[in-house]
Amino acid sequence: SVKIYADCKDASLYVAQRIADLITKKGSKGEKTILGLATGSSPKQVYQELVRLHKNEGLSFKNVITFNLDEYYPMQPIEEQSYVSFMNKNLFDHIDILPQNIHIPDGSIALENIAAYCRQYEQNIANCGGLDFQLLGIGRTGHIGFNEPGALLKSITRLVTLNDLTREDASADFGGKEKVPVQAITMGIKTITQAREIVLLAWSSRKAGIVKQALEGNITADVPATYLQHLPNVEYVLDTEAASLLT
Ligand code: F6R
Repeated sequence: SVKIYADCKDASLYVAQRIADLITKKGSKGEKTILGLATGSSPKQVYQELVRLHKNEGLSFKNVITFNLDEYYPMQPIEEQSYVSFMNKNLFDHIDILPQNIHIPDGSIALENIAAYCRQYEQNIANCGGLDFQLLGIGRTGHIGFNEPGALLKSITRLVTLNDLTREDASADFGGKEKVPVQAITMGIKTITQAREIVLLAWSSRKAGIVKQALEGNITADVPATYLQHLPNVEYVLDTEAASLLT
């Protein structure tokens, strides 16, 4: 389904509340909540609201386990542009999640160990019983996670090469496109689509073209977000501008 909001703030409040309700519902049954999380500009206000719900309304993350979608490669976790730093700054430093319950692909792993590391990342998700909820943004290439054009429906966590446009879009964060890593570790399309609930966020007219392709175009590896189209458990949460080209 598609939900369109006049602005991304209200949309983000809705998504944060949905996540909070899931944590509360599972918690009342004594169950942990397994969240798949995204970085980038799209989820920032969702995280801001989750922090507020924690600080002001008693929402606890003690029974929450998180798996982030992706990380640049190579990338030291302590670097400012790492997704580890992003998540700490925007969410984890401000809530009561247990450090051992946080999982973010490690961009500092040696190249020869990556395949085994990725298998283990998948295994860790499976050992938790799979993802209850996956939060997604969408890149202008149509990527979800860092599954760029060409990614297969059966893909799982692995090392990938970033598209030129993706690196260009990240260039401001790195002070130049040439400084953006060429590779990344990302969950696969299969990993993502196995989540029991999926919410994809897109804000602003910058995303209008790719949102139209993702929702209304043919299902194709050329636009990996199209793989979500026929899943029953996907909600697209858009602002008016991102939805402006939809028919
Ligand atoms: C981030 C991720 C990416 C972003 C996408 C959109 O973890 O997996 O797919 O969601 O590149 O980025 P923003 O939200 O910055 O436009």
